[in-house]
Amino acid sequence: TTYKLLLLPGDGIGPETMGEVKKVLGWFNARGTASFETEEDLVGGCAYDAHGKAISDEAMDRAMASDAVLFGAVGGPKWDGVPYDVRPEAGLLRLRKDMELFANLRPAICYPALADASSLKRDVIEGLDILILRELTGGVYFGEPKEITELGNGQKRAVDTQVYETYEIDRIARAAFELARTRRGKVTSMEKRNVMKSGVLWNEVVSQAHADGYQDVELEHMLADAGGMQLVRWPKQFDVIVTDNLFGDMLSDVAAMLTGSLGMLPSASLGAPDPETGKRKALYEPVHGSAPDIAGKGAANPIAMIASFAMCLRYSFGLVEEADLLEKAISSTLDKGLRTSDIAGKGESAIGTSAMGDAIVAELDAL
Ligand code: NAI
Ligand code: MG
Repeated sequence: TTYKLLLLPGDGIGPETMGEVKKVLGWFNARGTASFETEEDLVGGCAYDAHGKAISDEAMDRAMASDAVLFGAVGGPKWDGVPYDVRPEAGLLRLRKDMELFANLRPAICYPALADASSLKRDVIEGLDILILRELTGGVYFGEPKEITELGNGQKRAVDTQVYETYEIDRIARAAFELARTRRGKVTSMEKRNVMKSGVLWNEVVSQAHADGYQDVELEHMLADAGGMQLVRWPKQFDVIVTDNLFGDMLSDVAAMLTGSLGMLPSASLGAPDPETGKRKALYEPVHGSAPDIAGKGAANPIAMIASFAMCLRYSFGLVEEADLLEKAISSTLDKGLRTSDIAGKGESAIGTSAMGDAIVAELDAL
């Protein structure tokens, strides 16, 4: 099989970190067990400079036709003054909207070599590998009514509305079970059914989806507040956590910070499966932005971007062995003490973006 990837490096450190993914792609193509065909296009500020739009219609068409999109980062001070609807972030928002990316995947992985940099004790997080699956297009961020009204007596009233319909919960639940199958086979669903009707429905629909063909996966329900506590107390009890937009926003930020620096964190967003092929639209990107303060200096950590590609191998293509291999190469590069400046401890020397990419490719060769 040949997989079609669209690379959208974007602005700032985006092209620098994407350059290291290209080395990794070259390595996999040479190895021959899977083959990747890439196209490249503009997104963000560079697209605005070229076409006056944060993403062109042609680039959008290419994204829709690809098996997966790898996205670098967008934005920077150069575009601070551009009109709101064509600002760099508008490119990412259009991709998310047109590809209907409703499922946001945020892993929390702890590489043993960096375990002492965490705020938690080494034994709590060493070897941690969990995945938070956040519903991204529904819930309280979009529900109506959403307003602030004047009450006339100097008081105001603010309303946000949490709304979930069956189909929205069902599709994220199914995504969670399928992801769990490529991992350790366990899903923990988090809501607050004790105080929220949307929590009652969430719990019910997740259980129904589970009964409908996913009984090979273990399902556990947990109240989201207790879940937050468990996430910090003993995170290794989890495999995949599936939760709504608001709880997912908070829990994924907490989980990410258990383990490390912004330069290390990958993410993914998935759409619904195509009714004919079963394939999901997907976009993989690091959590960090374009880092204008270090752009052009060759100092950016490429690991978040490379780990985003490892997620693509696992979750879009089912290439579990290749994904494991790439994650192992990252881990053993760190074991050797190699660090970019963002993860170098006191007294440790740092290498640049390209040297880190080369070291990871050399590890791939050695494994
Ligand atoms: P940022 O994530 O770009 O940078 C925050 C800090 O972390 C900076 O000191 C940066 O040097 C450091 N950092 C980030 N990634 C790194 C890496 N791979 N290696 C080493 N150090 C790294 O966030 P910031 O500064 O708030 O935003 C900068 C620009 O990026 C803005 O224009 C913002 O709008 C945009 N942005 C874009 C995102 C995206 O494309 N998805 C997400 C977040 C911000
Ligand atoms: Mg957040």
